[in-house]
Amino acid sequence: MTATYEVRGQVAVITLNNPPVNGMGLVTRQAVAAGINRAEDDAAIKAVVITGAGAAFSGGADIKEFGSPKALAEPNLLSLISLVEACSKPVVAAIHSVCMGGGLELSLGCHYRIAAAGTKVALPEVKLGLLPGAGGTQRLPRALGVEPALNMIVSGEPVNSELLAQVPGQKLFDRMATGDLMDEALALAAEVADVRPLPRVRDLKARFIEKNANPDAFFQFARNMVGGMSKNFPAPLRCLEAVAASVTMKFDDGIKAERAGFAALMVTPESGALRHAFFAERATTKIADVPSDTPTRTIAKIAVIGAGTMGGGISMNFLNAGLPVVMLETKQEALDRGVATIRKNYEAQLKKGKLKQDKLDARMALLSTTLSYADIGDADLVIEAVFEEIGVKQAVFKQLDEVMRPGAILASNTSTLDLNAIANFTKRPQDVVGMHFFSPANVMKLLEVVRGAATAKDVLATVMVLAKKIRKTAVVSGVCDGFIGNRMIEQYSRQAGFLLDEGCSPAQVDRAAEKFGFAMGPFRMGDLAGNDIGWAIRKRRYQEKPNLRYSKSADLLCELGRFGQKTQAGWYDYQAGKRDAIPSPVVAEMLDKHRAALSITPRQIGDDEIVHRLVYSLVNEAAHLLEEGIAQRASDVDMVYLTGYGFPLWRGGPMCYADQVGLFNVVQAMKRFAKNPLDDAEFWQPAPLLARLVAEGKTFS
Ligand code: 3HC
Ligand code: NAI
Repeated sequence: MTATYEVRGQVAVITLNNPPVNGMGLVTRQAVAAGINRAEDDAAIKAVVITGAGAAFSGGADIKEFGSPKALAEPNLLSLISLVEACSKPVVAAIHSVCMGGGLELSLGCHYRIAAAGTKVALPEVKLGLLPGAGGTQRLPRALGVEPALNMIVSGEPVNSELLAQVPGQKLFDRMATGDLMDEALALAAEVADVRPLPRVRDLKARFIEKNANPDAFFQFARNMVGGMSKNFPAPLRCLEAVAASVTMKFDDGIKAERAGFAALMVTPESGALRHAFFAERATTKIADVPSDTPTRTIAKIAVIGAGTMGGGISMNFLNAGLPVVMLETKQEALDRGVATIRKNYEAQLKKGKLKQDKLDARMALLSTTLSYADIGDADLVIEAVFEEIGVKQAVFKQLDEVMRPGAILASNTSTLDLNAIANFTKRPQDVVGMHFFSPANVMKLLEVVRGAATAKDVLATVMVLAKKIRKTAVVSGVCDGFIGNRMIEQYSRQAGFLLDEGCSPAQVDRAAEKFGFAMGPFRMGDLAGNDIGWAIRKRRYQEKPNLRYSKSADLLCELGRFGQKTQAGWYDYQAGKRDAIPSPVVAEMLDKHRAALSITPRQIGDDEIVHRLVYSLVNEAAHLLEEGIAQRASDVDMVYLTGYGFPLWRGGPMCYADQVGLFNVVQAMKRFAKNPLDDAEFWQPAPLLARLVAEGKTFS
């Protein structure tokens, strides 16, 4: 049973019991309906309490059922809630911990609600590209008030139950529990057992908190605000229209309007992508051969080697989480610079009101520095972020091997070097792991956790848990050049270069990529990161893979000293102190000459071709990564791109996008690209995994 039924005196208690979050799947809905019917039929029962077992009242509809016949099978959530609301005996919702989505909607169908303090209350459907589809948009404005309900529905953000209880005139909670929730819920049930008529939220009028509010003006203002903030996401505006219906329509008509909105959103690619991202994010923590109950090592003190760009940002993550950090450098000036940068970052947050002075002081107090390895030996985790040179890494890891206590985790932030080689500089390769942060490391969500050939399972498990503590999305990658993200981006950059050779301007490529939804096109991104970084990588590649073709335009650019924003000249021109990318006549001339030297007649290239070549290059490389076992699953690749590379969230990541386009179509396009003599025919051969999926009519997911 996924809901239990028990009799306490004259009260029937129905307890949702569908771990982990009491999702309202079909079997749970059936069990609740059966409980209500049983209480109806039992003359000895005077009232009903509905609550949730474990760590949630309910996390809402079972998202895993979406798209399957189970989601619509009766009783669906709407009909279950109607059944509860129509019960002839009072039904009390005893709400605690998490009350979200369909769970909150179920409670709004109950006649009374009592909540424990600290309950996270939300209608988060909008985050899945949906709107609350079981009466939430009609009942919450009636119970809570239009303005706060609209805020909750359009943002999807959880609000603490105590705060909601303070909303003037609210009827969301009849009572806040002050002691044991179940005892107080049973007491409330006994108290109201004979009260008639039964109060129903549907009978209330959707009410504005603001006296004299002008509904038309209010919703028009809200439309402008929400529309401006939710470009590419259809759900927020539909949420708003559904809430407006609670004011302008009768309850049953409002429910019909809500239902139509829910059904329309459910089939949008945006909702598909957001639901994919929801599960993809949670899947990243699962490692096939590392069970979730693998014991972890205690991490209470962290050492960071190198206080440069990355070392400073990495340290901030741990300071923010309340963990002490000691930074080690070779020179005092470098330490002073690193500490000053961290302080400056915190002070910027202070100025913006994002951090309080006492928190700033507490974080800085957790930071210490040293020039001596003797001072870091007792750390539980050490993260190396020194220059990207194998000799420097070797010296550092040999030192660490000498001084670190047995069992300490030794991590490297290398972005291109061989982690197995680094691990073998020590006599304890099992304790070595890659922690590849992205710049700025205190801001970017992504952490690639690089699993070396010898990395111990408990080391991996520890780092994954720690990543959650510092609020990173950790994705496991095997060892290869560039790991998941940068190995893929290299193919994307190569395509961007070929597009220039063939006739595009940098601005045209960037415009197409940004119109598709990338936070930044490849050339603006290159200017921001520094074109010299890619130049150094290509120089290495020319040695390693002399037959691999690159456009030479990026090398020519670097030979002109145009490294990007830092030199005020890159693919674009920049004015001092500004970040606006201005198309550069120097670059246009450079490209003209380059094409002429190659006897290329420039051609017009459409946005579709630009975007498809960029994105499918990611997809094909990722299929190789999956085949090689470097990436565990396609949805991990999507998380890397969503959290580390500015891939548009509403497209769900490159693999989800490819699935939505259809892998057959993706491969057909790749075959066309392979025929272009200026492109790389060999690269466009579909990766074996991709070819197999197409042959079997399957998708990545
Ligand atoms: N349905 C199915 N599974 C769910 C779920 C749901 N609504 N909510 C969470 N889960 C699963 C997760 O997939 C995860 O599974 P896993 O262990 O197999 O990976 C597990 O529960 C734990 O989830 P989290 O790791 O997120 O646990 P947290 O404790 O950090 O957070 C939570 C719990 C706050 C409930 C969070 O999971 C959450 O925000 N869930 C989504 C809630 C939501 O969007 N509800 C609306 C559903 S749509 C709806 O109700 C439609 C209706 O209006 C018709
Ligand atoms: P950086 O040049 O800003 O900082 C490196 C720091 O290490 C300097 O302060 C230097 O004094 C110090 N250092 C050098 N040798 C040392 C030694 N033997 N002992 C102690 N300290 C030493 O470099 P950055 O950008 O912080 O990069 C560090 C590492 O992070 C590199 O491995 C790099 O590949 C990696 N990385 C860099 C990213 C970036 O965007 N900058 C992104 C992800 C990883």
